[in-house]
Amino acid sequence: MQQWIRIAHRGASGLAPENTLAAFRKALEIGVDGVELDVHGTADGEVVVMHDSTLERTTNMVGTIKTLTLDEIKQGDAGSWFSNEFSGERVPALVEALELIKKRAITVLEIKDKTIAPAVVSAIHRTQATDNVIVISFHPSVLLEFKSIDPRIPTGFLIGGEAEEPAGQYAIDCVHRTSEIGASTLNVSHNLVTAEFAYQVRRRGVNLWAWTVDDIHRMRELVALGVQGITSNYPDRFS
Ligand code: G3P
Ligand code: CA
Repeated sequence: MQQWIRIAHRGASGLAPENTLAAFRKALEIGVDGVELDVHGTADGEVVVMHDSTLERTTNMVGTIKTLTLDEIKQGDAGSWFSNEFSGERVPALVEALELIKKRAITVLEIKDKTIAPAVVSAIHRTQATDNVIVISFHPSVLLEFKSIDPRIPTGFLIGGEAEEPAGQYAIDCVHRTSEIGASTLNVSHNLVTAEFAYQVRRRGVNLWAWTVDDIHRMRELVALGVQGITSNYPDRFS
């Protein structure tokens, strides 16, 4: 067993179209500990896996997810934009992704849409994936709502951007924000991680993960600083 947790960002998204079952399969073949994915709610109350709230960047359709039904979104091709090899790939429903990933890795499930925490809990319960999920979000309100429905499922708080204070003090503020919402993991943009930042987080007992790291030298540096989980578009580069 490794010392740190290897997470494929949007699946193995450097090698296959992001947030598709093909990208998740590729990550599982490589052998990761976690598969990260992003979710939004549809017009008919379903939850689909996509990073953006609109379809144009990663499918051959246009439109906003929340105004379309699952069946409508399923008409789109979510693979051709990446390579013809993946043409015909569909936007997965969350339940399909959970079914695929749950036996082989943890699903690191990022809730993008602030309104869908109850639907996400329901998808996790329906697929009996409760033991194999961590829910992450940039939105404290989403994590609080999620925890109030099912407090057993661990959560991680996402922070990006630039440090707003010197690294040590910023780390303490991030720990306070993480603890306030009952999250077990602080999951930050790797640019925020310095030796001081990592030390101040870890000595307060909060798990520290970092995203999105494709450079193997930076991966090694982060592990040496004590980062416990790394998210990468290229899980094949994990050593
Ligand atoms: O895993 C966290 C990371 O995915 C957050 O950024 O924009 O890729 O969802 P983004
Ligand atoms: Ca994400």
